[in-house]
This record gives sequence, structure tokens and C-alpha cells, in this order.
Amino acid sequence: MTLLHITTERLVLKPHTQNSLVWLNTTFNNPEEDYFNGDDPPRESPEPLEVTQKILDRILNRPPDADIIDYAIHKRDTDELIGCGMIAHINHYNRRCDLGIGLGWNRDNWGKGYASETLQAIIAYCFNELNLNRIGAEIYEFNERSIRLFERNGFRREGVFRQYIFKDGIFKDSYSYSLVREDWESQIGADR
Ligand SMILES: CC(C)(COP(=O)(O)OP(=O)(O)OC[C@H]1O[C@@H](n2cnc3c(N)ncnc32)[C@H](O)[C@@H]1OP(=O)(O)O)[C@@H](O)C(=O)NCCC(=O)NCCS
Repeated sequence: MTLLHITTERLVLKPHTQNSLVWLNTTFNNPEEDYFNGDDPPRESPEPLEVTQKILDRILNRPPDADIIDYAIHKRDTDELIGCGMIAHINHYNRRCDLGIGLGWNRDNWGKGYASETLQAIIAYCFNELNLNRIGAEIYEFNERSIRLFERNGFRREGVFRQYIFKDGIFKDSYSYSLVREDWESQIGADR
């Protein structure tokens, strides 16, 4: 299992511990999280702590050859847990992965650039440390904050999964986004 540890200007990205349990449970039980992030039917009752514990146990005990790196997002000054993410479907032969990211239940932490700061560090980690060539993300058409987040950080919409998910009683599209190394390198060059 690869463990990631990255310090940015305001954040520390590091592995989950047992201390993530209540935060994860509160986040999974937040209706918005399900809405923007999941394709399961809406929950009829809150997810019990024991179920979240099993998910966390899986995260904490990934096998050494797992194709996924999970991380928690903490504030650097207070160590408060404010979000989580994953680098998933890591494929070293084809040098690609897919990203997931969320700032969790506490809306006070949204709209402050924490997700962007995280994403920039994770993109650099994927290209520089993991030596990948392509980073993908899938985003529902109505997830405007996530679309802004990924587009602001250089991702391009490359495709549409038409009528992919059933939300609010109708079928909605999902978008496929990607950032490839050559685009990122030319952006970094342009930023200098
Ligand atoms: C997607 C998600 C992570 C985006 O979070 P976010 O806080 O909107 O994203 P950012 O960190 O990029 O913050 C951007 C906002 O902070 C503002 N901001 C304030 N201070 C900032 C700073 N120092 N640096 C950068 N932006 C800053 C930006 O202007 C921007 O404002 P806007 O929302 O009016 O455009 C969040 O909405 C979320 O957790 N959603 C639920 C889970 C989810 O949908 N995940 C993605 C699945 S594909």
C-alpha cells in the first residue's frame, strides 16, 4: 500500500487513521455527498457507524499491490480533518489513474480554495512521483462546483456518458474529464 504525505501552503494530505471514522460517517450521511458523488438509491436510513468502520478498515488495510491511494485532507494549522480523496484505478503500464475528492459535510470549508490546493498537489504527485501520463475524473452534469474545480485546474471535458445516472426522477448525463501530461507541462510552463 502506498502512503501519501504532502504538505501544501494551508493543508496536509496524509493517510487516514481510526480518527477519521466519525468524520467519514457524518460525511457519508450528508445527503449532498450522496447526490453529487454516488449512484446508489437515496438512503432510507443513516449509515450506521459499524458500516463506515468496515469501509475504513478496508482503507487502512489495503494490500501492498492495491491500485488505489486514499488520503485525508487536514488543515495544516489545526490538524482538523476537512476532506478526503483517492487516486484510483492506478495503472502503471498505461500510466493512468482516476481521481475522487470531497470536502465533506462541513460547508464552512467549501469555497475557500482547499479543494483546488489539494488537486494541484495531487496532480503534481501523479505526474512527478507516480510517473503517470493521464489523470481522469468523472463528474455529473449538475455538479457545478466540481466542474469548476477540475476545469480551473486544467482538466478538459472529453466525453459525455448520456443519461448515465437516475437522479430526481430523471436520467442525467455524466462527463468524462482528463488531464494529460503534455497539457499539464505546457500549462506549468505558461504559469512561469
Ligand atoms: C467538489 C468540491 C470538492 C469543490 O469544493 P470547492 O470548495 O468549491 O472548491 P475549491 O477549493 O476549488 O474552492 C473554489 C472557491 O473558493 C474560492 N476561494 C476562496 N479563497 C481561495 C483561495 N485562497 N484559493 C483558491 N480559491 C479560493 C474560489 O473563488 C472559488 O469560489 P467559487 O465557488 O465562487 O467559484 C466540493 O463541492 C465537494 O466536496 N462536493 C461534494 C463531493 C463532490 O462532489 N466531489 C466531486 C465528485 S466528482
